[in-house]
Amino acid sequence: MTEAAGMEPTAAFNEWFVLSSYQAFVRGEEAPLYEGSAIEDLASIELADWKRRGGKVAYTRMADQEILSLQIVEIPPGGELKPEHHMYEAIMLVLRGQGASSIWQSGERPHTVEWHEGSLLGIPLNAWHQEFNSSGTEPCRFVMGTNMAHMMNLYHNLDFIFNNPYVFSDRYSSENAAYYADRVRHMNVRLFETNFVPDVRTFGVEAWREKGARTGIARLSMASTALGLHILDIGEGTYATAHRHDAGAHVVQVGGTGYELMSFEGEAEPRRVPLRPYGVIAPKRNEFHQHFNTSPGPMRQVAFRGNPVRFGFGRPYSVLGAAQTSDPSATGYTIPYELEDPPVREAYYRELERNGVELRLPPVSQGAS
Ligand SMILES: [Fe+2]
Repeated sequence: MTEAAGMEPTAAFNEWFVLSSYQAFVRGEEAPLYEGSAIEDLASIELADWKRRGGKVAYTRMADQEILSLQIVEIPPGGELKPEHHMYEAIMLVLRGQGASSIWQSGERPHTVEWHEGSLLGIPLNAWHQEFNSSGTEPCRFVMGTNMAHMMNLYHNLDFIFNNPYVFSDRYSSENAAYYADRVRHMNVRLFETNFVPDVRTFGVEAWREKGARTGIARLSMASTALGLHILDIGEGTYATAHRHDAGAHVVQVGGTGYELMSFEGEAEPRRVPLRPYGVIAPKRNEFHQHFNTSPGPMRQVAFRGNPVRFGFGRPYSVLGAAQTSDPSATGYTIPYELEDPPVREAYYRELERNGVELRLPPVSQGAS
């Protein structure tokens, strides 16, 4: 019998053990890796020159998890990236500028889609894609919500990820000219199927009163991916109820301004993160978070998240979305307005007064839901 307890790692162990194939990949890209649970502005964070494809790039490892991550990319004026295809899925959100993507399967002619700030585009699994900046004077920047970290850690073989000949012809062909047309199918309440949204800032969402008064949401299935995505509106003069869940959701602010309160159970003071386009918050497991809109008009967020809306992970589809519960011991616990600390609403109300916006929530004593 060997005694393992307290054994110090040896040089042989350190060489054998792989902490993260994803982190090793990012080091190989010589790119920054942003961590934590908030980034104030994806449109201005520093990126590194991208030797593999041209342009500039950075990656994230937010909320201490490697299931969903972001890839932030910039193309200089008049520039283009080298084409690639890969065995991970990606949904692209344009943060700045304008350009085009060519997308095709091996042996096909490229199909080109034009985009600009606010566009949302699903990239089918392992399809070739190439991005171009169509401005000769301004850079363009976009963010990809991806499951690349998960796939790299599962297969830990970059040749399999980036050089796999399999063609998912059940998902995409560039000969289907309508694939990226501005076509939205309404599949159920607050649930849509589309491959391209020209401007996510004007997409029509549907009321979602269960989540707190005056909110609206659209859940999107895009490009047959197993990536979850939603567009959430928080109405003027309102805020969402505090809640917590598993790590993985990346919430990108795309319209309006406000703030996020983030805290763990038992912490005296929540952390306050300003919300403005294009900041992102990615709460850690069990980290309470709560979106406050302090601007006139609705505040809008796009979330890359787990729980894909069409190709599910075994949970029945629920119009309520993520499992939420009133059980305070559960990970999916949502704090109703009437149980939150009164200073939370008082501070919000003072901020609305400064901005000349009226509170639109009913008083908690009357049982707001
Ligand atoms: Fe959340």
